[in-house]
Amino acid sequence: MNIVTIHNLKKYFGEGASQVKALDGINLSIEKGKFTAVIGASGSGKTTLLNSIGGLYEPTEGEVIVDGINLADLSEEQLTVFRRRKVGFVFQDYNLVPELTIRENILFPLVLDDSKPDKVFFEEITRILGLDDKLDKLPYMLSGGGQQCTAIARALLTKPAILLADEPTGSFDAKTSQNVAGLLKMTAEAYHQTLVMITHNLELAQLADRVVRMQDGRIIE
Ligand SMILES: Nc1ncnc2c1ncn2[C@@H]1O[C@H](COP(=O)(O)OP(=O)(O)O)[C@@H](O)[C@H]1O
Ligand SMILES: [Mg+2]
Repeated sequence: MNIVTIHNLKKYFGEGASQVKALDGINLSIEKGKFTAVIGASGSGKTTLLNSIGGLYEPTEGEVIVDGINLADLSEEQLTVFRRRKVGFVFQDYNLVPELTIRENILFPLVLDDSKPDKVFFEEITRILGLDDKLDKLPYMLSGGGQQCTAIARALLTKPAILLADEPTGSFDAKTSQNVAGLLKMTAEAYHQTLVMITHNLELAQLADRVVRMQDGRIIE
């Protein structure tokens, strides 16, 4: 079963001579529960593709269907709920709230959604990610790897159908990168989540079930 189906997706930024064709006719199906790595040179459209799957960008043309929902059919409000409930984003720069503790950061999306965390699940993922003894600390007290694990825990806790990670290990050394990507893969597998990860690191891409290579707004393999 495919959790993501993309038909002829085009995303253009700007107009006239300065128009950029960030995505120029993408066709892609992503199977539920699989780990897909997206690789390609800087500017090839990887982030635009990820943000389109996550409902952050409206297509110029074409369709994005996630978990049976055609994103074009959703109102702004429904899109916000879709992003909060169906999608987990892990960004390169973590996006943690500096004034909140690790625990509060992880719980933040659930608080916004007015829903209760699954306590057992919270304890399990924070243990797996090595955060159980750091929950009362502030983000700056953790290493970069620890902060990224917090962002991963936050994304996992809402049990999104799909995890979208944009160069989640971009600022780490080789060993930490392997560890963080390995944890992302392991937790996604354990919770039957679909993982789409952009990376520049070909070693990390090898952890994936499938590698999608982009060039000039198109998928070339
Ligand atoms: N919000 C935007 N406004 C204008 N141009 C953009 C925007 N986002 C991306 N682009 C352009 O679209 C192209 C693809 O960008 P991006 O998807 O970020 O590539 P990648 O993530 O592979 O580096 C680039 O030429 C980039 O400059
Ligand atoms: Mg990018």
